[in-house]
Amino acid sequence: MPVLRNHPLASLTTFGLPSSANFFCPCTSLEQVKEALSLVRSEGLPLTVLGGGSNVLLTGDLDGLVLHNRLEGIEIVEENGKEVWVKVGAGVPWHALVVETLKRGWYGLENLSLIPGSVGASPMQNIGAYGIELEARFHALDAIEVHTGQPRSFSHSECEFGYRESIFKKELKGAYVITHVTFRLSRRPELRLDYGAIREELDRAGVHDPGPQDVSNAVIRIRKSKLPDPSEVGNAGSFFKNPVLDAEQFSALQSAHPDVPHYPAPSGTKVAAGWLIDRAGWKGHHRGTHGIHDRQALVLVHHGGASGADLLALAQDVQQDVASKFGVALEREVNVLPLG
Ligand code: FAD
Ligand code: EPU
Repeated sequence: MPVLRNHPLASLTTFGLPSSANFFCPCTSLEQVKEALSLVRSEGLPLTVLGGGSNVLLTGDLDGLVLHNRLEGIEIVEENGKEVWVKVGAGVPWHALVVETLKRGWYGLENLSLIPGSVGASPMQNIGAYGIELEARFHALDAIEVHTGQPRSFSHSECEFGYRESIFKKELKGAYVITHVTFRLSRRPELRLDYGAIREELDRAGVHDPGPQDVSNAVIRIRKSKLPDPSEVGNAGSFFKNPVLDAEQFSALQSAHPDVPHYPAPSGTKVAAGWLIDRAGWKGHHRGTHGIHDRQALVLVHHGGASGADLLALAQDVQQDVASKFGVALEREVNVLPLG
């Protein structure tokens, strides 16, 4: 297993912020993951797992060992006439998986097209977009416990998925390295077109009898029109979650701002954080090296030359302003490292 010292991390994350790893282990096999974890235990090193680096904000150098998950592989583990169960290595890029499943006629991931990052990170925050969350197609995952090196499988219910949540962001934060994820996909298209923008985009493209590839193409076009491309400007997608308000909070917000976009959620009403930040006047805000995207106020951007602390200070200013103008607390979606 290769162990690199003082390895730069900026180009391994989509924010492109300066940082380096004291020890850096690119792991391409399960054996290498186990070896890296043995080193973590024997040397008492703090561990950070990195996938595509598209949901992290690095605020400084990482003192311990960074395990870069590069486990490959897409294999069928079970199938019948209707469905197929596919086990995927944690290092496979998410969108490459979506493209491959569409090519092979395994359906269900098309609404999640073009989300950056790795398959291994996808259960962490139960990635979601355009009317679907990962959990709809998740079957199980395999992981290795950091403190013991023991393998363990997690079923759907054991992952405790929620909106941008799982047990791996809560009780089991930092406790496991996810090595494989198994998906349950359909051999027959089961299109989800209930997210309004998809239908509009299909109509615009003149597609009246869409298939899964058309839905994927539509999602890709919508995403490209709104979200900045990390290869052009540093960002990590939505910086904050959309807040879920209880009945009393939502009614107060809606009577002051009747046009606030909102959606039903299991424990209340979800409101659009991007709208709140936009209305508070932050869209397109510029601080030279960094700022807020001019087409999506939920996205913080790094133009080059900023530090993680600069981005974090901007995020805090936004949170304070939104709290004072709307009485709504915004919670970060992005993972800040090192953990403080
Ligand atoms: P990383 O950023 O590398 O890691 C994220 C967290 O997971 C870290 O805490 C890391 O330690 C941990 N982690 C990573 N891999 C593992 C592993 N194998 N085992 C254990 N822990 C691990 N997200 C959405 O949900 N919906 C969207 O529509 C969406 N759009 C985006 C658009 C853009 C332009 C960008 C830049 C990001 C977007 N995201 C979106 C966020 C991001 O793509 C997802 O959260 C993605 O799953 C992160 O994957 P990653 O491999 O880059 O994770
Ligand atoms: N809005 C504004 N101004 C803005 C941004 C948004 O008024 O600057 C309004 C929009 O007009 C719309 C509403 O807010 O009425 C929601 O906006 P959008 O449809 O762009 O979606 P979002 O809620 O901002 C969420 C996810 C995205 C995901 C999209 C599509 C979260 C935190 N974000 O964004 O996920 O791609 O929906 O499903 O849930 C990510 O997690 O990184 C991410 C990009």
